[in-house]
Amino acid sequence: MMYSEKVMDHFMNPRNVGEIEDASGVGTVGNAKCGDIMKIFLKIEYGIVLDAKFKTFGCGAAVATSSIATELIKGKTIQEALEITNKAVMEALDGLPPVKVHCSCLAEEALHAALWDYAEKNGIVIEGLEKPVNDIGEHEEGYYEAE
Ligand code: FES
Repeated sequence: MMYSEKVMDHFMNPRNVGEIEDASGVGTVGNAKCGDIMKIFLKIEYGIVLDAKFKTFGCGAAVATSSIATELIKGKTIQEALEITNKAVMEALDGLPPVKVHCSCLAEEALHAALWDYAEKNGIVIEGLEKPVNDIGEHEEGYYEAE
């Protein structure tokens, strides 16, 4: 399997690893098939994503897609953030092998889950945002933290 240089770079030197303690929104999603889990933290003020961090328990591509997704979302408005699809993530990484496409979907879902959480906490509706399907929610956090 061949990875682009960008994938390798973001896998070897992932950006924005960690947590945001007073995050405006947190999204945790998992893929039941591979068991990989991704958690994204967003700091949002005045409708702008000021900061993004992630913790990913998963494959190299999942780490790379989390890294690039957090890079892409920083500085964006909420509406712009919604345009960060798995396709955008893959393009930013110069592509992914077909068996790794779902890893980029996890990144999109994690971003959306974090935005959903932000919207819920603030009692707002983000137009065009749907409730993320693979959201693991808070009740299974223990499983994630234990890994
Ligand atoms: Fe499932 Fe990468 S193998 S997220």
